[in-house]
Amino acid sequence: MSGAKANNSISGDRGAAAAEMLNLLEELSCYTRKDAGAEAGVTRVLYSPEWAEAQRFLMKRMEAFGLCTYADSVGNIYGRLEGVHAGPVVLSGSHIDTVMNGGKYDGAYGVAAAVTALHYLKQTYGPPLRSLEAVSFAEEEGSRFPLTFWGSGNVTGLYNEEMASQYKDQEGITLKEAMLGHNLGEQKGLAFRQDVAAYVELHIEQGMVLEQSGTQIGVVEAITGQRRASVTIKGRANHAGTTPMGMRKDALAAAAEMVLAIEAAALKQGDPLVATVGKLEVMPNTSNVIPGEVCFSLDIRHPGEDVLKAFCMDLERIFAEISATRGVLVELKHSLQAASSRMDPGLCRELSTICSRRGLTWRRMVSGAGHDAQLFAPSSKAAMIFVPSREGISHAPEEFTSPEELVAGLEVLIELLYKLGYEEEAEEAGV
Ligand code: GLV
Ligand code: MN
Ligand code: MN
Repeated sequence: MSGAKANNSISGDRGAAAAEMLNLLEELSCYTRKDAGAEAGVTRVLYSPEWAEAQRFLMKRMEAFGLCTYADSVGNIYGRLEGVHAGPVVLSGSHIDTVMNGGKYDGAYGVAAAVTALHYLKQTYGPPLRSLEAVSFAEEEGSRFPLTFWGSGNVTGLYNEEMASQYKDQEGITLKEAMLGHNLGEQKGLAFRQDVAAYVELHIEQGMVLEQSGTQIGVVEAITGQRRASVTIKGRANHAGTTPMGMRKDALAAAAEMVLAIEAAALKQGDPLVATVGKLEVMPNTSNVIPGEVCFSLDIRHPGEDVLKAFCMDLERIFAEISATRGVLVELKHSLQAASSRMDPGLCRELSTICSRRGLTWRRMVSGAGHDAQLFAPSSKAAMIFVPSREGISHAPEEFTSPEELVAGLEVLIELLYKLGYEEEAEEAGV
């Protein structure tokens, strides 16, 4: 067996790997929209110049680490460590895009850790039995176009490139135009692949569970279900001075009523359901014109599919009532319907064993945030490792996890990738 270790704890220069990962994370955070100051956090949306620069930079770093790099047709990039045996691969990574004014850890941490882990494994143990790949997915957040998981969604078959002409950003640029406009050098084949045996993602928790319980590692058992939609209300634009209050079809007033109704319905349903309106577009958005059209986003999450379904139907009924009373039209367009997904029980057990062996405190938990891992869960063995987020803050410039906590996560990732890539029994069991 190829240079594999005989005992069950990793050796080699782990200090160097830790420093390498922390540096890479810092370097990645410099690829951000230039008009934003340091206090504005990181903004790196899909196919923007800073996004493309970050992906190119990562490819160079992967090459310097001795990984074989390639980009696929939608701009996911990979660094491959070829296995001794042909066959399915073990994939690890996360997404490179961010929300507007986000933090530097969400997504980037999982990418930096996967790239560093593969470098460490290559240097310490040589080629694995089974091929290992690090991936930086093009998009997960849904910050620029009204869809999420464009990166892993193309890999797993949720989306295909043909769909790219259906979606537009706020400037009216189609996803297809944006996709063709970036340049990552030669891009190899279609993104869809069926050779992923296991997908492992390391991520910050983005919540308070680990910090409040003083736990170092979260072993994710399931990722909550999610619905995303855009709601368009069409009223009538008219003069703000000459149109009496009783004769208006004010799309923004209708939207405001709907937003409050969503909040009330979510509070009535209770935890763990959450519902958010995070984006509002008002047309024509001028002080002396009654808003003629409003579009707002809707994000609803709950682990139970039945609850999600019933809640959405309830909202549609409430929207219909409000629009009838106000004489406006309402249209709801779903952009994501993701059922709750379970991580692989065998890999969860393995992660718990690794944490105990390394003396790390751990707990099993459910993720309230969406992750690329949920797209792999139906077809591959998927696993997720969480590390604490200070005060549970994420999707904000204040996002923070200490270097020690980040490094603990890296060690767990390295151990699991070692197990999956280098150990005979894992390969024989088709893990
Ligand atoms: C992705 O970050 C999400 O919104 O859960
Ligand atoms: Mn993320
Ligand atoms: Mn995110």
